Amino acid sequence: MAGKFISFEGPDGAGKTSVIDALVAELQPVLGDQLVVTREPGGDHFSAKLRQILFDDANKGMDGRTEALLFAADRRHHVVSTIEPALAADKTILCDRYVDSSVAYQGAGRQLGEKEVWDINTFATNGTMPQLTIYFDLPPEVGISRIESHRTDQINRLDEETMNFHHRVHAAYLRLYHQHPQRIRIIDANQPLPEVIADTKRVINHRFADLFSN
Ligand SMILES: Nc1ncnc2c1ncn2[C@@H]1O[C@H](COP(=O)(O)OP(=O)(O)O)[C@@H](O)[C@H]1O
Ligand SMILES: [Mg+2]
Repeated sequence: MAGKFISFEGPDGAGKTSVIDALVAELQPVLGDQLVVTREPGGDHFSAKLRQILFDDANKGMDGRTEALLFAADRRHHVVSTIEPALAADKTILCDRYVDSSVAYQGAGRQLGEKEVWDINTFATNGTMPQLTIYFDLPPEVGISRIESHRTDQINRLDEETMNFHHRVHAAYLRLYHQHPQRIRIIDANQPLPEVIADTKRVINHRFADLFSN
């Protein structure tokens, strides 16, 4: 593949959206339509229909493997419709969550098995993986408090099961990081946002010879 494929991972509240926005502000004027910013689930008709099924109240309590396969189907569509064409056209792709999210959230969080979820995603992507994954590491409690900061009264209502879920996700992300040291770079997301952005640019520049000029 000719282009650059960078994914961003980590829990909600880690700063993925904030950092991607900052990177886009710098890269967009330089790269124009050579820059592709994308996320999962995608926003097109196919993805919208899949989301309808996934989040329809009538399907509440959907079997976990069914859900994981639907997410994998959405990823397959995303790869074929967006990522592969962009790579073939030598574009730079910034992708908010990818395979690692499924492994961490479905595999470990929902306890479907990290290897099992990895395997269905290998089928879905047919091996199209980011050259670089930026993993924003954050203690689960900090991520939750950032998300809940506008309604602090509810923090205490998070039950033990919810906390255990987030700890399982965190542990799985760290395992992925250790299993894929070439692809995944870890960044301390528990520091002020400007420093997280600076660290991210440094890591990207190291992998893709000076994509950022300053
Ligand atoms: N480094 C940081 N320090 C403090 N707050 C942050 C930091 N990064 C993000 N936030 C705040 O946390 C919340 C979630 O950030 P966001 O970028 O949406 O994270 P994500 O996309 O990973 O869920 C936002 O209110 C954001 O302003
Ligand atoms: Mg986000």
